[in-house]
Amino acid sequence: MSLPIVRTVAELRAQVSAWRRDGLTVGLTPTMGALHPGHLSLVRLAKARADKVVATLFVNPTQFGENEDLDAYPRDEGQDAELLSKEGCDLLFAPSVGEMYPPDFSTSVRVSGLSDVLCGAHREGHFDGVAQVVAKLLNQAQADIAVFGEKDWQQLAIIRRMARDLDIPTKIVGAPIIREDDGLAMSSRNRYLSPEERAIAPELNRALRTAADRIASGALVAEALAQAERHVLDAGFERVDYVDARHAETLDVVRQNPPAGPGRVFGAAVLGKARLIDNVPIPETQASPEAP
Ligand code: PAJ
Repeated sequence: MSLPIVRTVAELRAQVSAWRRDGLTVGLTPTMGALHPGHLSLVRLAKARADKVVATLFVNPTQFGENEDLDAYPRDEGQDAELLSKEGCDLLFAPSVGEMYPPDFSTSVRVSGLSDVLCGAHREGHFDGVAQVVAKLLNQAQADIAVFGEKDWQQLAIIRRMARDLDIPTKIVGAPIIREDDGLAMSSRNRYLSPEERAIAPELNRALRTAADRIASGALVAEALAQAERHVLDAGFERVDYVDARHAETLDVVRQNPPAGPGRVFGAAVLGKARLIDNVPIPETQASPEAP
């Protein structure tokens, strides 16, 4: 059976209300399409936690900077719908830009602090666009849960904070990062990589993991990060936007070792036409055994 596709908020709401009236729970998985197994894992997780799953497909113009890849962003709704259907998704909401942003649209959403660091420091306005569109999607769908990937860890932290701050009742659920066999985090933007670049790409993950392990074994944080940055550049990346260690929830910088609370190492670097991001946990150090 082919997947039903709706393009208006009214149709989306009508379907969700009908499910709700039948006592069914609803999960939401927002995407920008060009779906890969990472996206489909979110649908699977939503399916495991809710009776019905709505995927959204909207390449949100407000989260792209002027010199970014909005026009080039890969779009293939037919194939996306087929993949979603196979995964057991129940409805696809694929609105037009006009449906989401009428000409007199005037409201912005900004999660300050969390949006200003890491990717936010390099992509001006990006997370304001993300917060704006996700606030709309959550309000439009009125789902019980919404699933977002840990691949975009900062985005997930911002969405959690926004939902809490604005009393949005949908429960925000994080999903683990799905990787290629060589460790490269799956991403729609991996399609931009040439075969040579694709061979280099997993070095970002390797560098972050090495830094996280070094920090866990007591290295100076700044040194571990500097080594990781060198690793990525030596591998052939053209530019490193950042390699940084941060608290998993507050995104505060981690400089002391051992870190206070759960830490992660985050990285973003440019390879050919692609800007790749990744993040890994800093393994918890075993507490040293108490002296007898
Ligand atoms: P997009 O990049 O299409 O990603 C949609 C969702 O899939 C996000 O929650 C993202 O974190 C998750 N995802 C992508 N690659 C993943 C991987 N390898 N493993 C696990 N999850 C992965 O993120 C966006 O779109 C947009 O910013 C959006 C939230 C839809 C708002 O426009």
